[in-house]
Amino acid sequence: MVNRSPLSPAINPVEENRGGLIGKPMNRVDGPLKVTGRAKYSYEYRGLKDTAYGFIVGAGIGKGRISGIDTSRAEAAPRVLAVLTYQNAPKQAPPHPRENGANRFDRSEPFLFSPDVRYYGEPVALVIAETYEAARHAAGLVEVRYVKDAQAKFDLAASQSQAYKPKGVNAGMKTDTAEGDFDGAFAAAPVKIDVTYHLPHEHNMPMEPHATQAVWDGDQLTLYSGQQIAATAHSSIAKTLQIPPERVRVVTPFIGGGFGSKVPLHAQAVLAALGAKVVRRPVKVAQTRPQMFANTNHRPECLQRMRLGATKDGVLTAIAHDVWSQTTPFDEFIEQTAAFSRVMYAAPNRAHRHWGVILDLPSSDIMRAPGEEPGSVAQECAMDELAVALDMDPIELRIKNEPKDDPETHLPFSSRSLVECYREGARRFGWSTRPKRPATLRDGRWLVGYGVASAMFPTYMRPSAAAVRVNADGTAVVKMDMTDIGTGSYTVLTQVAAESLGLAPEKVTVELGDSKLPKSSGSGGSFGAASAGSATLLACEHVRAQIAQLATKDRRSPLAGADAATIALRDGHVVAGDKSEPLSAVLSRLAPAGVEGKGEHQGAQQPAKYSSHVFGAQFAEVGVDIDSGEIRVRRMLGVFGSGRILNPKTARSQLIGGMIMGIGAGLTEESIVDPRDGSFVNHDLAEYHVPVNADVPQIDAICLEEQEPYANPLGIKGLGEVGIVGVAAALANAVYNATGIRVRKFPITLDKVLGGLPDTGST
Ligand code: MOS
Repeated sequence: MVNRSPLSPAINPVEENRGGLIGKPMNRVDGPLKVTGRAKYSYEYRGLKDTAYGFIVGAGIGKGRISGIDTSRAEAAPRVLAVLTYQNAPKQAPPHPRENGANRFDRSEPFLFSPDVRYYGEPVALVIAETYEAARHAAGLVEVRYVKDAQAKFDLAASQSQAYKPKGVNAGMKTDTAEGDFDGAFAAAPVKIDVTYHLPHEHNMPMEPHATQAVWDGDQLTLYSGQQIAATAHSSIAKTLQIPPERVRVVTPFIGGGFGSKVPLHAQAVLAALGAKVVRRPVKVAQTRPQMFANTNHRPECLQRMRLGATKDGVLTAIAHDVWSQTTPFDEFIEQTAAFSRVMYAAPNRAHRHWGVILDLPSSDIMRAPGEEPGSVAQECAMDELAVALDMDPIELRIKNEPKDDPETHLPFSSRSLVECYREGARRFGWSTRPKRPATLRDGRWLVGYGVASAMFPTYMRPSAAAVRVNADGTAVVKMDMTDIGTGSYTVLTQVAAESLGLAPEKVTVELGDSKLPKSSGSGGSFGAASAGSATLLACEHVRAQIAQLATKDRRSPLAGADAATIALRDGHVVAGDKSEPLSAVLSRLAPAGVEGKGEHQGAQQPAKYSSHVFGAQFAEVGVDIDSGEIRVRRMLGVFGSGRILNPKTARSQLIGGMIMGIGAGLTEESIVDPRDGSFVNHDLAEYHVPVNADVPQIDAICLEEQEPYANPLGIKGLGEVGIVGVAAALANAVYNATGIRVRKFPITLDKVLGGLPDTGST
């Protein structure tokens, strides 16, 4: 599993000085802090004197205007300190423009700035009291009268005919791409699939609700706030409050999951800052779980029409992927759903297009594998439908249409192991035992079926800087504003630094999650390990170069006169050939204050010379109860080609977590909109069904050995998101194989198969 990728020759300490740490399944360095409760999350900082509590009052209509607001009863309630509304909230910057794709997370996000209500649950007041209970009680005493907008729109299908063309889609991708003549080729194709899939709104729902503590010290603001990217949260709050960035600090060392929803600055963060300013005390605001459905991210509902044209022997000649997804009048987010089909399969004639459908709902936003996850559902289910139409094995169909280069850009792939993933997965999963005809395999009361689907996620990089200090006592500290959202950043950065510096991991401390530290990628887009890891590697190389200079120029050192470029750091020693001196001896003599190195990685090379993505194959086995239609996942296996793996243990956890989350997209998760007011009605975890480990008794994820020479100095591709991609399709395809029923409206709940199950009598 451990992959040794060639490193850029300019920076080779890791390869030269293998302590063997990179690639080892090291336990999480922050594990003990977490299991003993000493890891502090945003809401848990204590000892801030006189902390007060804010509770958000959300709008009770979907769209309209506040016609009257009476806070007098709330203000008179015991222990209440203040009630903020649009009438008295401190001044903020105007809201960001509707379209601002590239700066999506670095922009003003005001709240309580207008009597207009844009979506159900939008904050209309913040009640601040001395206790949480008093604030929450008084929130119920705020009286708001509204004028509703009778024209409000909440239903995607009903508004599909009013869809518009956005200028671009998320992640800077093109709205539409095309090549050849799709219409002509599709019309001429002997075998055609033309199907539409309907995917619901989904909510990210991390375990840790969104929470912020705000503290003003004079004109200096500190926000303790779970944020995936400290730097954008930092500039976003500064812009919102119209204060210089140097007067703001964002602290976010531990984050209980995010899946994209802790990238933007959300209401509780802004309101905590405003509230703390008004009451001149630290203020904590946490969103309740139901509030998170209105005031954090959700993946937009979408309709996807997928057309495939093929020859009789299964060669794709035409692919069209048309997507309509929800966005809003005040913020444009268009999920890049057709991006998946742009890179998966060869076909000379193709079209991949997006439309936005404006609804009066909370803004849609990024959720794990934005674009790739929903896009994989349509492409990969349609491939299964095509395999059925051709009477072909679905794996062989995919392998037959493997592209020679990136089908959209025609750049060579930096590495692509999809075929190997399918071959290895098929062998391990026992694909040959799959029932060739649907509804033919029974296990007691269960109809059993197998399904596969491809996974893909682009390799992104973001500029990142790191500072590394090596002390004379042989310890080292890595500092950057990188975050660890549960993924293992602390651990993999410890591995990179310890190996690069030739130190034991216990000697290395990693400090993250503070905007005063060097600016990094943060966590998102599966770019964290590659970006922050590369910056750390470069900072360690800077340390090594300085120590090499010191040692080779010092007559007292056994290394005197050696070529500085050949000096390595290994096992706590400074080494050249067969000569060495303990690192602590070199430093105490020549740099008693230690040596500090800085590293900066500029992110992805532009223009790109290679197309770089993680590819994978998802395998699923499901059972469908012959009488009740209950669907249970019996087994899942994911096989991925993700370049070099820094830590197989945290990598596997990430992948398995993504795959389990994919069960939600396939079978359980759906945020249901009330057609009267646009609220998400199933707004708690009792009714919004997030899958858990128990929803899949057998699961495994493996990474193939893969050389990734181009993506970054570490040769890694990132795998925070790819695990979720393709799972929903693999499950849908398995349900078809089990039952012969093709469900195209997700999630696949038992009611959608119940009517079509074979009447074979109860067991
Ligand atoms: Mo990911 S949706 O960019 O956290």
